[in-house]
Amino acid sequence: MRILFIGDVVGSPGREMVQTYLPKLKEKYRPNLTIVNGENAASGKGITEKIYKQLLGWGAQVVTMGNHTWDKKEIYDFIDDANKMIRPANFPDNNPGKGIAYVNINGVEVAVISLQGRTFLPPSDDPFSKADILIKEAQQRTKIIFVDFHGEATSEKQAFGWYVDGRVSAVVGTHTHTQTADERILPGGTAYLSDAGMTGPYDGILGVDREAVIQRFLTSMPVRFEIPKQGRTQLNGCFITIDDQSGKATKIERILINEDHPFL
Ligand SMILES: [Fe+2]
Ligand SMILES: [Fe+2]
Repeated sequence: MRILFIGDVVGSPGREMVQTYLPKLKEKYRPNLTIVNGENAASGKGITEKIYKQLLGWGAQVVTMGNHTWDKKEIYDFIDDANKMIRPANFPDNNPGKGIAYVNINGVEVAVISLQGRTFLPPSDDPFSKADILIKEAQQRTKIIFVDFHGEATSEKQAFGWYVDGRVSAVVGTHTHTQTADERILPGGTAYLSDAGMTGPYDGILGVDREAVIQRFLTSMPVRFEIPKQGRTQLNGCFITIDDQSGKATKIERILINEDHPFL
């Protein structure tokens, strides 16, 4: 199984990068499954039905979310019908949507799970114990399990990676919008990357117009965050291969496309 993952898509600059580069990435890596984190796809905050369908149209098969899941109110109207979208599974049980999706790739099933960390993020249920439950459930159907762990703290993400090593095929972090260079395959066979990074403006701060963020630090006063409409852009993600029989990862490679790291 070959899985392509694209980190948090931010606003129209991020969407344009997906539209432009996803076909090229598919040609290069020939993934069986493409997963895109879309929690910032609508102007940096949440997702709309139109954008969700656009991402699927451009080649995503699963869209994962995070702490920005509910930012666009219209999500309540379509999330229960969006069977290719998952939000963190450790949100309270009464929340709309779901946290696990199964995709059938030519008869081989893949489980995709979204979880959110609890360090420096709004309160949620325990992602570790939720993972135990979901992994058991998924293992009834498949050995190939991919987890998008949406978290701020690298320590929590690493702890999670080691906790599930050997029980899932891959743990890829999202949310910080900054790609880490710690990709590896843990001894039990779980591909691990603390953060896949961000797809969107390259010269902003985490995808947001940098002047506003700098003002925030200079003044400690509220400022309006905007997504730069122009300027250089980037795409971040990773590519993972998994042995179908064992569910163990055999390779993980970071993907970084911007002016300093051109697509080859
Ligand atoms: Fe994000
Ligand atoms: Fe986030």
